[in-house]
Amino acid sequence: MKEQLGSTILAIESSCDETSASIISNGRVLSNIIATQSVHEQYGGVVPEIASRAHLQNIVPVVHQALEQAGISRSQLEAVAFTQAPGLMGALLVGASFAKGMAQALNIPLIGVHHMQAHVLAHLIDDPKPDFPFLCLTVSGGHTQIVLVHSPLQMEILGETIDDAAGEAFDKVAKMLNLPYPGGPLIDKYAQTGNPLAYEFPIPNIPDLNFSFSGIKTAVLYFLQKQVKLNPDFIKENISDIAASVQYTIVKALIRKFEKAAKQYKIRQIGVAGGVSANSGLRKALEELGQKHNWEVFLPKFEYCTDNAAMIAITAHYKMLHGEFTDLGAVPSARAEW
Ligand code: KG4
Ligand code: ZN
Repeated sequence: MKEQLGSTILAIESSCDETSASIISNGRVLSNIIATQSVHEQYGGVVPEIASRAHLQNIVPVVHQALEQAGISRSQLEAVAFTQAPGLMGALLVGASFAKGMAQALNIPLIGVHHMQAHVLAHLIDDPKPDFPFLCLTVSGGHTQIVLVHSPLQMEILGETIDDAAGEAFDKVAKMLNLPYPGGPLIDKYAQTGNPLAYEFPIPNIPDLNFSFSGIKTAVLYFLQKQVKLNPDFIKENISDIAASVQYTIVKALIRKFEKAAKQYKIRQIGVAGGVSANSGLRKALEELGQKHNWEVFLPKFEYCTDNAAMIAITAHYKMLHGEFTDLGAVPSARAEW
């Protein structure tokens, strides 16, 4: 007997600088292959055209490996899923075109997936899974959202950033500290040995449940410019304290609003998703928040936090169960409403 209703699906993620493919069968992820494009490091950020070309090079071997690792042949596939939006247009087109070609060749349905919805549903890949409704803080390089998750396919954005995303703030500050892209993980690393209260940066006071991170970035920029004038080696000598103080400020801004939202909506199960959820300071702060209020905290595995196709696969699994398919004529979109 099948442990859960469902089908065997190939999912593809290509929205930014990771080419990833995953196989899911009856709701269980059998493989999740991720090729990260390190070529962008030298440019200090993702170069869209280079990302598209790298996806073209990676997609066939990545899909092949995902099938092989899962022990699934192409003829066993019952649907092909892909990230439809949001993301870099050229990058999305590579995944979408490949998925369409495969769906057409195998005569199986196509499932377009929203990347941000997929980040949230990463919580449904492994046990323990949250019950519905739960509250998810989705923090990535392009988004910062508080999402009320009513069911796998029904979500409501309660608040989001009005300017920079949290990951963007980490990356921009890292650049000021002369660290390579993506700087978030490096800020995290330096912060481990720094004093989070060494320097004080303002936490923006934005109404409702929205966020703003451009002010923090500007405050750090002016602070560094002033200090470097006095001591040209200031950054080198104090990088751990600067990283720890910036991380403390960003995490505090995130947690403050997330706590407010959970209280306001009386939600007792909270989780975090997206690349920034790999941040050790944020994970610790969430655990502490859970302890403070006796809320249950859900932290997905690292491999499901940053961009990956397993989250696209689990979303496609639920869409397939609900009969939500995508037309072969569907086009990807760089920006998309839910
Ligand atoms: O979700 P993701 O992989 O891609 C997007 O959809 O944007 O998120 C990437 C972002 C980058 O800004 C990266 O610096 C940040 O996640 N990030 C981190 C950490 N690991 C990844 N930021 C802070 N601390 C980390 N440990
Ligand atoms: Zn993402």
